[in-house]
Amino acid sequence: MRLEDKVAIIVGAGQTPGETLGNGRATSLLFAREGAKLLLVDKDKTSAEETASLVQSEGGTAEAVQADVQSMDDCERFAARCKERFGRIDILHNNVGIGAGDAPVHKVNEETWLRILDVNLTGAYRSCHADLPIMREQGYGCITNISSVAAICATRTAAYRASKAGMNAMSQDIAMSNAKYGIRVNVIMPGLMDTPMAIEGYAKARGVSREEVREGRNKLVPLQKQMGTAWDVAYAALYLSSDEAKFVTGALLPVDGGQSAKVG
Ligand SMILES: NC(=O)c1ccc[n+]([C@@H]2O[C@H](COP(=O)([O-])OP(=O)(O)OC[C@H]3O[C@@H](n4cnc5c(N)ncnc54)[C@H](O)[C@@H]3O)[C@@H](O)[C@H]2O)c1
Repeated sequence: MRLEDKVAIIVGAGQTPGETLGNGRATSLLFAREGAKLLLVDKDKTSAEETASLVQSEGGTAEAVQADVQSMDDCERFAARCKERFGRIDILHNNVGIGAGDAPVHKVNEETWLRILDVNLTGAYRSCHADLPIMREQGYGCITNISSVAAICATRTAAYRASKAGMNAMSQDIAMSNAKYGIRVNVIMPGLMDTPMAIEGYAKARGVSREEVREGRNKLVPLQKQMGTAWDVAYAALYLSSDEAKFVTGALLPVDGGQSAKVG
């Protein structure tokens, strides 16, 4: 019960449909098992409700809320709903991330560039902006932003990479400007994870089989040539969101099987 008596908002708590668990859903299940009460936010209402049902079926407490991080009104609405339902917001976990249509700068079109930046980076800004006043008033809070090793490693996805690098910088800025209020802000940079967005999403976009995508990704991981799973991200988030990490803020934590340490 490492999150006993804590209230957490998980933004992006649904998932892309597929045969494995997404990062937000695994984190929701783990946080509930460790005692947190959850407000589960997603643009896809049905998917957020599926996560809430899974949590409830294990005896946890969760409410699903439909909201789009591209809207400040929506972000303010879910922050207010959490305060109304549970009385406080101890943990904010920003998991939303998209990348469809991305490419190197000379190829990616302006509409795609702007959409990815708006959802991944400005969306996390909106979510933090809406929740921070409540955390500052409490004199307590913990924010974990889900970035990517793409923020620090070369990829062929320019907008995604820029959005996640921006998220890293923004998170450290929020950490410094809110440290005196007892608010910690950290980043997890997942590497290659076996989630539906990465496998089913990529297989569909490239017209190849899931197994082919898996094989290609596994080969790139130094640690036993095996991708991580959503549980690896969830366990890192559990540590950062618990009081065990009470002296940890402004950290950028790779959860990547060594990918970001591999040079050459
Ligand atoms: N899977 C990987 O290999 C990998 C690697 C590095 C980083 N990440 C990051 O992990 C996070 C989760 O990835 P995942 O693979 O579990 O993806 P996912 O697609 O399963 O989960 C993302 C969720 O965000 C929701 N969402 C999308 N746009 C939204 C919006 N505008 N407002 C509210 N909700 C919205 C989606 O409906 C979905 O439920 C993302 O931030 C991603 O960039 C994933």
